[in-house]
Amino acid sequence: MNFLAELRGRLRTALTELIPSDVMTDVGPYAEMLKPTQDPKFGDFQANCAMSLGKLLKKPPRDVATDIVARLKLDDLCDAPEIAGPGFINLKLRTDRLATEAVALIHDDRLGVVAVPTPRTFVVDYSSPNVAKPMHVGHLRSTVIGQALDRVLRFLGHRVYSDNHVGDWGTQFGMIIYGYKHFRNEAAYQTAPVAELARLYRLVNQLSDYHEAVKTATALDAAVRLAETALSEAQRQLAANPKDKDAPKAVKKQEAVVAEAKAAVNSARKKREAIDNDPALQTLAAAHPQIAELARQETAKLHAGDVDNVALWKAFIPQCLAALESMYQRFGVKFDLTLGESFYNPMLTGIVDDLKSRGLARESDGATCVFVEGNAAPFIVQKADGAFTYATTDLATIRYRIETLHADTALYVVDARQGEHFQLLFATAKAMGLGQLESRHVSFGTILGDDRRPFKTRAGDTVGLESLLDEAIARARAIVDENDDGKKDGPELDTATRADVAEIVGIGGVIYADLHHNRDSDYIFSWDKMLAKTGDTATYIQYAYARVRGIFARNNIDADALRQAGGTILLNTPAERQMALQLLRFSEALSDVVVDYRPNLLTQYLYDTANSFATFYEQCPILKEPDATVRNSRLLLCDLTARVLKTGLNLLGIRVAEKM
Ligand code: ARG
Repeated sequence: MNFLAELRGRLRTALTELIPSDVMTDVGPYAEMLKPTQDPKFGDFQANCAMSLGKLLKKPPRDVATDIVARLKLDDLCDAPEIAGPGFINLKLRTDRLATEAVALIHDDRLGVVAVPTPRTFVVDYSSPNVAKPMHVGHLRSTVIGQALDRVLRFLGHRVYSDNHVGDWGTQFGMIIYGYKHFRNEAAYQTAPVAELARLYRLVNQLSDYHEAVKTATALDAAVRLAETALSEAQRQLAANPKDKDAPKAVKKQEAVVAEAKAAVNSARKKREAIDNDPALQTLAAAHPQIAELARQETAKLHAGDVDNVALWKAFIPQCLAALESMYQRFGVKFDLTLGESFYNPMLTGIVDDLKSRGLARESDGATCVFVEGNAAPFIVQKADGAFTYATTDLATIRYRIETLHADTALYVVDARQGEHFQLLFATAKAMGLGQLESRHVSFGTILGDDRRPFKTRAGDTVGLESLLDEAIARARAIVDENDDGKKDGPELDTATRADVAEIVGIGGVIYADLHHNRDSDYIFSWDKMLAKTGDTATYIQYAYARVRGIFARNNIDADALRQAGGTILLNTPAERQMALQLLRFSEALSDVVVDYRPNLLTQYLYDTANSFATFYEQCPILKEPDATVRNSRLLLCDLTARVLKTGLNLLGIRVAEKM
């Protein structure tokens, strides 16, 4: 049972009785003001709605609270409510009720999580990398946040299509095709095609960037001088009017402009030097001065159905998808659908025609654009050269998800930088009659390095996801070795088990470190924090799990038999009561996750559960407990803890180890 939801429901009934419907039609928001407490001295839950209702009903809040309490029917669930301070209603769950509910969990595979009565059909659009480039750290967030939401929604009983909306039709293919035609190393392509395609992509990119850097060098220098002049002017203003509040702000702002302009010069200089310092690259650059334009033409030819380019594309795609797949296996991610951008290609003309016939799209500078009321920017659906865009594809995707998948809700787990795209997309879809699909941009921030800039390798390249996971596992291995070697009865893990545990801890650590941040925030990537044995980490929770399993294994207690035998759960100490209450809140945690699609509410719950367990384990002897009924009750609580931790971590895509 979800206590929070149940209590809110009862409060809602009481409020409906109390407040005449002509005063208030929906008491829902006031019922939602019932929340779990942070401090047990206020009970387990607290409702503070009497304060705001007092204002509205022009009555002292304490009187309102008394009226509410008189109507609240909670005898079966709670001790008598207390009214505290100006009118807080404090609720404490009956301990005998907690005990019976905890016993019910023992035989419940779903650990108290009741499937939703009216399942919805969700599309969770996540990971969705642009293929033919190796996956990098930027793809981590979408993959792990999306996977967690996918799993939680399914567990709650919804129908879910996980859809990997891969970019398999974009401009990178022109670059790869150009590279393939001019620079391919056939032997390398035969042995490791994706690595060779990635090399070709990087090479073409590098040569294009080089020519661009050469072409813009003068302009970039001029921009720095201009910014510096503006900065001196701002500084002069500040010196002249030291009291002007805005002057220091203007200086700061201008300093940032200078810094940015200098960074652009630097980055362009690095791009030039990389070629200038390498004779072989220099020769290539000289031989391909028009490379950027020619690569664009290769993309255009592909889209126009050019036989050679289509054949190359068809040869590349399966290789690229296979490379992604090996990455997904490491994360345990499975997609129901991998409908890339190319899948929607045949539908794009229809979309643009539809927009035109509805009078929503018109020409602007040769391009076809949608102008939606209230939107600052136009939404370009066809470029002047006839090419369709990311936007057109996404409109076709919405139509497909409605008409073919019959989806109710689509979640787009995509970087916050695409916020404007989704705003325009959803508004356009609505205007063209595709508003019945509830669409949400589940956006997230950037992973930063120690320098608070996007996380890069020391050489300044993006961090490959493959090597990131390898490093996580290697670091986890060192920790596992040290831990096992330090055990007082000697090591207990053989080499194969150590390798297994290192993988579970390493990858779990990376996933958890990402998920435990509020998804909107940027976060700084830190190996040490990620793999710490204590604190808010996967490792800490995985240890709590392994500790329970260790108790069972060392004492030859069979968990299945224990469950079969059952017994009572006794909650005679605060630590036991708290443990049971925490376990019984699993359902609440999962419901909370999907209110605003926030997996960090589940990591927080699991961390709190591991903490409750640490206190319980410290304060309540288990096998040393002489009373057999109490001992059995504590073992049952241990077992429930392990099950909740394992199930919860699995819903985040994180595995557990029996021994660590
Ligand atoms: N391929 C895109 C990128 O890498 C993300 C796609 C997200 N999904 C979508 N339906 N737009 O930026």
